[in-house]
Amino acid sequence: MPFPVKIAGIRRKLNPILTFTTPSLIFFKEARKERHRMENYLTDQEFKLYSSLIYEQSGIHFSSMNRSVLESRLKERLRNTNLANVSEYYQLIMQNPEEMKILLDTVTTNLTRFFRNTAHFNAFENYVIPALVEQKNKKKDTLLKVWSAGCSTGEEPYTVAMILKEKFPAYMNIEIIGSDISLKSLMTAKESFYSAQKVDKIPEKYLQKYFEKKRDGYQVKKEIQSMVHFDYHNLKYESGLKNIDVVFCRNVLIYFDSEAQESTVNRFYKAMTNFSFLFIGHSESLFGMKTPFKFLKTEWATLYQKNIGNHQET
Ligand SMILES: C[S@@+](CC[C@H](N)C(=O)[O-])C[C@H]1O[C@@H](n2cnc3c(N)ncnc32)[C@H](O)[C@@H]1O
Repeated sequence: MPFPVKIAGIRRKLNPILTFTTPSLIFFKEARKERHRMENYLTDQEFKLYSSLIYEQSGIHFSSMNRSVLESRLKERLRNTNLANVSEYYQLIMQNPEEMKILLDTVTTNLTRFFRNTAHFNAFENYVIPALVEQKNKKKDTLLKVWSAGCSTGEEPYTVAMILKEKFPAYMNIEIIGSDISLKSLMTAKESFYSAQKVDKIPEKYLQKYFEKKRDGYQVKKEIQSMVHFDYHNLKYESGLKNIDVVFCRNVLIYFDSEAQESTVNRFYKAMTNFSFLFIGHSESLFGMKTPFKFLKTEWATLYQKNIGNHQET
């Protein structure tokens, strides 16, 4: 904000319409009020209780920096349950494991989009797919398994599915697993119906080919939808998945603390084949972690690789 309130005050006197068309002041005032309201919402003890519980259950870490996010989400949940205060709500969670799941769903951030971080998908298409095809041909293996861990409302695994449909040999089989801790997001993912605004980053050729215009949005066609299976899975625990060739876990680790990040990444390692690839978000890194993943710099993007045994470095 280049001009402080005083200047805006003068403007108000001169031209009231101008004040109404300048929302930033109102925004900052509202944000300040909201922060003030939220600061008083949980006592320090309650904040500790809830943040420890959420961390234990999911690895999601709330610190003093994002305390107001936890407070506003809890407030929303209390409104929906008609409970008077956070202690009553805590009792409900303790009595009902389903409510724990709802709480975790409530505190997650599910922002995503199709073809998010195009550089990753360029590396997937131009580096990872050719390397895996070569490897699989050598081993006479015809199944490719991709896991979108923390897939939110499905845009990431459907992007992967469309690219594989175009670029992966048709004689091979493809299995894509999308998993998340948010049941609400998984429902949207399974429904695979997206508003016009949500599909606006999809290249025209993909949109034309793999979506059907319906009502006020777009439906993913069956041939893409059927390539993806969605499952509820909490990354805090073992997935039971095996022989995964590619893991996409982007913009998820950022919500965990370093301990939870490291254990999650090492669980991926166990679930992956000896020649496989890991994509994490562009603002995330495995730097400083005790993990056997190797850093890989491609022409398009950086990623991580598991490459052990007799496999050739690519
Ligand atoms: C910001 S979205 C990222 C979606 C997608 N990967 C992308 O990059 O566009 C983060 C997702 O991670 C999920 N998540 C957070 N903690 C999780 C956990 N412990 N287990 C599984 N999913 C989790 C959230 O529910 C949310 O949908």
